[in-house]
Amino acid sequence: MAHLLDVQDLSVAFRTDDRQLNTVVDHVSFHVDPGEILCIVGESGCGKSVTSLAIMNLLSRNGQITGGRILFDGQELTSMTERELNRIRGKKMSMIFQDALTSLNPVFTVGTQLTESLRIHLGLTKDDATERAIDLLKKAGLPDPETMMKKYPHQLSGGQRQRVMIAIALSCGPKLLIADEPTTALDVTIQAQIMKLTRDLVHELNMSMILITHDLSLVAEMADRVMVMYAGQVVETADVFTLFNAPAHPYTKALLGSVPSIYDSPDRKLFSIRGSVPESYEELVGCRFADRCDHAHEACRTPEAGQMLFKAGEAHAVRCVLYSPAEKEVTLRG
Ligand SMILES: Nc1ncnc2c1ncn2[C@@H]1O[C@H](COP(=O)(O)OP(=O)(O)OP(=O)(O)O)[C@@H](O)[C@H]1O
Ligand SMILES: [Mg+2]
Repeated sequence: MAHLLDVQDLSVAFRTDDRQLNTVVDHVSFHVDPGEILCIVGESGCGKSVTSLAIMNLLSRNGQITGGRILFDGQELTSMTERELNRIRGKKMSMIFQDALTSLNPVFTVGTQLTESLRIHLGLTKDDATERAIDLLKKAGLPDPETMMKKYPHQLSGGQRQRVMIAIALSCGPKLLIADEPTTALDVTIQAQIMKLTRDLVHELNMSMILITHDLSLVAEMADRVMVMYAGQVVETADVFTLFNAPAHPYTKALLGSVPSIYDSPDRKLFSIRGSVPESYEELVGCRFADRCDHAHEACRTPEAGQMLFKAGEAHAVRCVLYSPAEKEVTLRG
């Protein structure tokens, strides 16, 4: 089966004040298959949002893709013109961001924002677009969609705004939905409702999804596969059961270990990963996690360490020399 999205060796850099290029996403490779939900996890600053913005070609002006390919539905995105990309973005591939208030246009009603996308991408007439927009708002679980169409974003609650964003993102029946921490700004009950709705719609409409989140319980609930990023690199990828039951990379283990559980005894100390994500990766030698890793030894400080992914199991890849027998070398796309 051909991958719907196939990211190969993607590198992204930002120009700094002194005009140097600072690489923040470094040779990242992964894929998403039709109908699949891939979750991307990792500490703040590890490059999750930049990776997804690069896929959508929405990097800020000081950012650029410095290497790699992004194949979407058989087409290479990195060599497309803005015009060609506009035909794909919003239509075949759409994105939901964390903050719906800043993503929605404050001066247009919900109805205008929804129907505009339908008219541009699908060429619908005003009446057809309105009918479809009402239907989408209903699907997104909004009561009284006719009234909702006439409202401005500031008249809605946070949960309602996020539902509108979902309706807009799904309006043209995209094949891929990228959701970057879509519910972080909402309270937990609304969070659960919105995520359930998103998952049901993704399955119902036979779409694929990339979900970026810090919430590991959400990952357990939503993901088919999980990709763990650390300091601009993919450090582990596995199906969701393997990742939770047999994590391989010391960083993944630490990440899972730092989640408190209601079953913990009251005197269990909250575990935290010592140190922080390195600021710049350019001068680091060896494994980028070594300084924070309890298993670090000499081999982790060699230039080769951290450069390769090894096989930890079936479709389970890990960037750690603990798994390094040469014959087990794999690439993520293997
Ligand atoms: N516009 C920008 N200009 C310069 N550097 C940037 C820019 N956007 C992101 N970066 C840098 O790129 C790195 C990766 O950022 P990114 O936003 O992808 O992190 P993230 O994994 O999404 O973190 P979080 O979990 O906090 O959202 C960070 O070091 C960040 O400072
Ligand atoms: Mg982010």
